[in-house]
Amino acid sequence: MTPIELSQTQFKQHYGENAEQTIFAPGRVNIIGEHTDYNDGFVMPCAINYGMAVSLKKRNDSRWRVYAIDIQAQDEFDLSQPIEKSEHKWANYVRGVVKYIQAKCPNFQQGADIAMTSDVPMSSGLSSSAALEISIGKTCQWLGDLPLSFAEIALIGQEAENKFVGANCGNMDQLTSALGQKDHLVMIDCRSLEITPTPVPQGYDIAIINSNVKHDLVTGEYNSRRQECEQAAKFFGVKALRDLSVTDFLAKAEALKAESELAYKRAKHVVTENQRVLDAVAALKANDMEKLGELMAQSHDSMRDDFEITIPEIDYLVELAQVAIGKKGGARMTGGGFGGCIVCLVPHEKVEALRQLIAENYEKQTGIKETFYVCTASDGVRVV
Ligand code: GLA
Repeated sequence: MTPIELSQTQFKQHYGENAEQTIFAPGRVNIIGEHTDYNDGFVMPCAINYGMAVSLKKRNDSRWRVYAIDIQAQDEFDLSQPIEKSEHKWANYVRGVVKYIQAKCPNFQQGADIAMTSDVPMSSGLSSSAALEISIGKTCQWLGDLPLSFAEIALIGQEAENKFVGANCGNMDQLTSALGQKDHLVMIDCRSLEITPTPVPQGYDIAIINSNVKHDLVTGEYNSRRQECEQAAKFFGVKALRDLSVTDFLAKAEALKAESELAYKRAKHVVTENQRVLDAVAALKANDMEKLGELMAQSHDSMRDDFEITIPEIDYLVELAQVAIGKKGGARMTGGGFGGCIVCLVPHEKVEALRQLIAENYEKQTGIKETFYVCTASDGVRVV
């Protein structure tokens, strides 16, 4: 059963009547441009065909009853009262989005019964949180017919995660879940929010391999990376690392290194990664898959050596994938790091060989069984 069907049947079972509407918001996979979003830089993700489905029915009052099908948990709160934090983290994603929707649209008080379910694996770097935030943001927008654009819903989702859930993420995940485009990679300028869609190359599949090492409990690492980037931006006297070209960076790199080796390494990753995203767009336009593969490999090396966010299991998966894929296509870690998934752009006829090489080696080497997905680039949030 798809999440959409499951949310509808479970809605009926739980509330004893049919849902009025279903909303689906996708997870995302990032092809290139990691830890650049909060540096006002460039990213190139796509929304995927896995996501969060929310079935709902308007109520005659201002209460929200939210049923989380996958964990069989329920939350209730009232939109006419100030929205407080719950002791349950999952519930805070919902409450936080509604709270910040209300901050923007103070008259929003429409109650609803909701049943929701997701097939995005959690803590794996595929943005299960953003899918939840954007599905709830769109739910509010639909319920109240609120004058909110997709980008505004995305930024509200990010605000809820930053201020209510307490994770200091950038804006890539929410923007992608809101604004993804079917069969396209979307290059996002995370400062201007301008989007450049580029078709997924013909004959290529997007394969995602989950290391099944969860990246929980690494909020501290994420936040320290952000601080080191801010320190480097301050050293250069720029608003964000986005404002430096590779040449600008190299001109003062040694001086930064003398002040802080860590800030130097982090900035080196971000500045070169921004350039790689721009180069990747050009490579895709020229259908130069060899170049794209090189850029993905450089991105991975930079995350491993300079940003220091990969782990041995992930490095091993990438090595195996690079062997299976060869020169036309590429592989790298995707997402925040410290576990989670790798992403591959792989010629269709090589997918099975890739699956097999990893099945034969990864568990033997690490003691953990991987999960292999072939996914399609999808539209962003939608009313079903
Ligand atoms: C997480 C964050 C994003 C982004 C990535 C790294 O997914 O939520 O905002 O910073 O890590 O690229």
